This record gives sequence, structure tokens and C-alpha cells, in this order.
Amino acid sequence: MSDEALTLFLPCAAGVQDFLADEVHGLTGLAGQDLLIERGGIYARGRWRDVMRLNLHSRLAQRVLLELAHAPCESEDALYALARRVPWEDWFGTRHTFRVDVTARGSAFKSLQFAALRVKDAVADRFRERSGARPSVQTQQPDVRIHLHLDGAHASLLLDTSGEPLFKRGWRQDKGDAPLKETLAAAMLAASGWWQPARRAVAAQPLYDPCCGSGTIVIEAAQLALGLPPGGQRRFAFERLPLFKRDEWQAMKDEAEAAARPAPAAPRIFGSDVSHRMVDFAQRNAERAGVAQAVQLRGGDALQRQPPCAEPGLILMNPPYGERIAVAGKAGAGKETGWKTGQGRETFQTATLRRGDENSPGQESAHDFFEQLSQHWKTHFGGWTAWLLTPDTRLSARLRLKESRRVPLFNGPIECRLLRFELTARRPANAPGPAA
Ligand SMILES: C[S@@+](CC[C@H](N)C(=O)[O-])C[C@H]1O[C@@H](n2cnc3c(N)ncnc32)[C@H](O)[C@@H]1O
Repeated sequence: MSDEALTLFLPCAAGVQDFLADEVHGLTGLAGQDLLIERGGIYARGRWRDVMRLNLHSRLAQRVLLELAHAPCESEDALYALARRVPWEDWFGTRHTFRVDVTARGSAFKSLQFAALRVKDAVADRFRERSGARPSVQTQQPDVRIHLHLDGAHASLLLDTSGEPLFKRGWRQDKGDAPLKETLAAAMLAASGWWQPARRAVAAQPLYDPCCGSGTIVIEAAQLALGLPPGGQRRFAFERLPLFKRDEWQAMKDEAEAAARPAPAAPRIFGSDVSHRMVDFAQRNAERAGVAQAVQLRGGDALQRQPPCAEPGLILMNPPYGERIAVAGKAGAGKETGWKTGQGRETFQTATLRRGDENSPGQESAHDFFEQLSQHWKTHFGGWTAWLLTPDTRLSARLRLKESRRVPLFNGPIECRLLRFELTARRPANAPGPAA
């Protein structure tokens, strides 16, 4: 069983599939017909070892699913028959608990819940027929999750080898109002070119997030720079399956640990945030993630902070946007917001920027934030490249900069773009003009 060829499906956020294919290729060597790209995921033809390896190392996949059946299926009875033919007993036993989740795209089934129920019945009936007993259903924290995917006239049955989604790395226990998913932060690192997943390499350039919040971007970057696997601190559903071999898994984890690189003498990855409470969160998260030595985190307004190092690098950020997260600091105006800190109360001037609210009071200061940010960057960050993730279609206009690249990425259901801006230094007013 453990050396059989398996069909794996790795779902990811829409827009991330090409980077994920690069990552899977870099981690497993799979290519060509063994690696097929779909919108929102990739299919890979691998072995059990690849399942463990992808769970441990993938930063872009949401899960690693094992496809056990895929067939045309247009009625509940056909679905029941399909699920009954799957040799579930090869994967789990009657002492395990399970649940069935369902997703659909253009399916003809009237009730998705009923479709899931038919699969559950088929699994239970197959076990009962073979052993006289059946595994029980458990909706909270089951041992085994079965995914039913209905796509047009086809049904797929997949076994989830991950359990908790892979963006849950285990280190983020402190988070702000609008934390970025770890998988999306990793996608930003890949889309910006700072991380090259196919080569399993990161750029030598310094990296800076001036609105770092709980530190997701900088921590993902630092783990990559140190060669730490994203799944090194968590458990996976496959560890509960009968074919799981603890010694093989431990050897794979030991190998990953041995490949880790020491932190450089001076950090090359920097984060700052106007909220000192966020900086504390980011610091604690960095410690749990094992990267505290590789990042430098500071408090401060993005409109005032100077470059964190002499050499120009890459700014990567998702700036404040929307109702939950407001621009604060120098450009903030209007309503005052208080955030609790360990020492007492921290107050900021804030202004919220949201769609369809362009002319309301306070908007001017949120607009000001981006205008002032680009002025600040032109004055102090000449030679740097800035990448900003935003759902705001007018961000370039607000910054008064023209983007040199735009990569569509989805933040859950929200369509965003990652925009690249080359920051050229503004010529001081008294500098000599070009020779006549
Ligand atoms: C969308 S959140 C970033 C979330 C972050 N990527 C994370 O994963 O937690 C925006 C952050 O910008 C910060 N912020 C707002 N105004 C700022 C300013 N003027 N200077 C620096 N940071 C600011 C907020 O405190 C917030 O943490």
C-alpha cells in the first residue's frame, strides 16, 4: 500500500495554482503528466511519502487530499454505489470516527446535504457488511474527513490527510483584527519572486513589511530563509491512519530539522506596525515559530519609519483597508480607537477606507495616508521595490504611482491584486538638472 501510486489533489486559493505546482515540483520532483494544474488546486500523482512530505512542507496548499474515486454520477443512488465500492477499510477502521464534507460546482444534485448523507450511509454499510461494525460519525474533530466534490456530472471522493487546514501552522496564537492567512502570505512571497518555490530558494534581498500586524508575512519569510518547514509544529490527520509509520515520519521530520539554517548575524527581514500591541503579538508569534533571531520587529508609523537597512530591498505588505482595519498614526483622523496594551491603553487617530464611502469625512485622511506613504517612499526608499496586496481597485491612483505588475490573488472570496511599484528616489529640489 505505502508504495502504490496515489492521486493527490491539493486545493489552494484561486490564482495560486501555478505557484503551488512549482512548490510541489520543488518538493517532490513530480512533473509533466504527474502534475496537472486546475483553477484552485493541482492534481499530483505521487506516493505515500509525497503525502507526508507535502503536508510537512507545503506553504501554499490548503490541504493534501487523496482521491479514492472519481466517476460520472448523476443520481443519489449512483453516488451511494460509487461510495460503497471504495475500499475504505484499507484506510481506516471501525474504531475511527469520520465525517463527510461536501463541495460542489455546477452540480445537478438537489440537496448537497442529502448527497453527503448517502456517502456516509455507503461508508457505514460497507464496514457493517464486512465486519459487522461501523465507524461512528463525529462532526467535531473526527479522526477521518471524507470530502465529496460534485463537479457537473462527476463526483469525487477524497480522503483528507491533513485534518486542520494547512494554513494553521501552530505558531499564530496572537492575532489582530485582519490577519492574513499564512498560505496567502506565502503566495505573496512567491508572486513577488522573493521566494522561488520550484528552486526552494529565497532572494538575498532584504524584506520589509511596514504594516506587519501579527507578523504573518515576515514570519513566513523568515521560516523560508531558515529552511524551517511550515508543518513542523502541528499534527496531521494521516498520523491517525493505520498505515502511518511513526519511524518514517520521524525520520522525515529529523531530516527537515537537520536541513535548517542558522539565523544570520544581522536580520534581513523586518517588520513594523503603528500598534505596539501588534508588534508584541508579532514578536511572540515569531518566537513560537522559531524565527525570533531572524527578524527585527519595531513599533512606528509607516509614514515616519526610515529604511531598516542600508541596502535597498523589497517592501511586501497588505495595507489597512476596510471596516475592520483602519489607517492609524500620522495620517489618521476622526474617530479615536483604543487598543489595550500590557502597559495600559494605546490610542491612535484612525480613518477607515471602504468601498462606496469615498466622500465621507475621514476618507480624506485615509487617502492622505497612501499619498503621504508614496511621498515618504520616494524620499527615503529610493531603489526599493514595493508590493502591496489590496482589494482596492483605486490604490495606484491613491498612491499616485503606476504599478509595473499586477498579480490577481484571492483573499478568501475577496478578489485582490498584488501590485508592484518601483520606487525611484525623488531628486532633491536643489539638485542640478540634466546637462543641456
Ligand atoms: C491589514 S493589517 C495587516 C495584517 C498583517 N499582514 C497580519 O498578518 O497580521 C494592517 C496593519 O496596518 C497597521 N497600520 C495602520 N496604520 C498604520 C500606519 N500608519 N503605520 C504602520 N502601520 C499601520 C495596523 O495596525 C494593522 O496591523
